[in-house]
Amino acid sequence: MDKPEEIRGQTSALPSPTAAISAWQPGQVIDGQYEVKKLLGKGAMGEVHLVYHRLWKVQLAVKAPLPKIMASEKTAERFLREARLWINMGKHPNIVTAWYVKKIAGLLRIFVEYVNGWDLKTYLRGGMIADLAQALDIAIQITSGMRYAHEQCQLVHRDLKSSNILMSQEGEAKVTDFGLAKAIDAADIVEDEVRSPISTPQRQRVPKDHRRQSTSASG
Ligand SMILES: Nc1ncnc2c1ncn2[C@@H]1O[C@H](COP(=O)(O)OP(=O)(O)OP(=O)(O)O)[C@@H](O)[C@H]1O
Ligand SMILES: [Mg+2]
Repeated sequence: MDKPEEIRGQTSALPSPTAAISAWQPGQVIDGQYEVKKLLGKGAMGEVHLVYHRLWKVQLAVKAPLPKIMASEKTAERFLREARLWINMGKHPNIVTAWYVKKIAGLLRIFVEYVNGWDLKTYLRGGMIADLAQALDIAIQITSGMRYAHEQCQLVHRDLKSSNILMSQEGEAKVTDFGLAKAIDAADIVEDEVRSPISTPQRQRVPKDHRRQSTSASG
């Protein structure tokens, strides 16, 4: 499947950091193309919706970053850069495929593979792992996805945790949210800089970037 709609970020007319994410309602059709099915959930990065892509005839998950990430050109560009690195990873069975970024109503949104299931955190809390063999199988799948990320894509995840592992109903484990934690960190730094010129612990916690920067944007 091609990735025809990825755009280069236009970061003019940035929303205010306190603005609400423009809410999509089930039943709405966005851009004449995306049928909004439901809100999948909200996380530190923003909202995630399930949509049906009329042209591709598939369901996709759409992540809308928090307005604070889009509030400065610098952090918006960083989000776009991180998203492109994820898109450029291509397909692997243990990684959620990121298809493209699109600006809709002034907000960048990232369109990714929809995983019909649960995240691993819910899985663990619900006691959905039957035995050691299944636990090991999940661990091996996660390792396989991370190995692909490190060895083939030279990418470090930076926020690997159970809520960022999605489990399909067929028992596949897929790692998601590559690099997006970095965009959130960057947004927090901007807020700190506005508040105080003194270095804060929050700023000091931001880890070094160990990634090799990709020179190409996805097409
Ligand atoms: N590709 C996807 N397919 C299906 N559900 C998804 C997908 N991506 C995210 N979700 C669901 O949407 C919800 C919000 O996800 P999000 O990544 O924003 O936050 P989180 O991972 O739960 O928390 P955090 O922001 O701390 O990482 C979660 O319930 C998650 O399982
Ligand atoms: Mg997440």
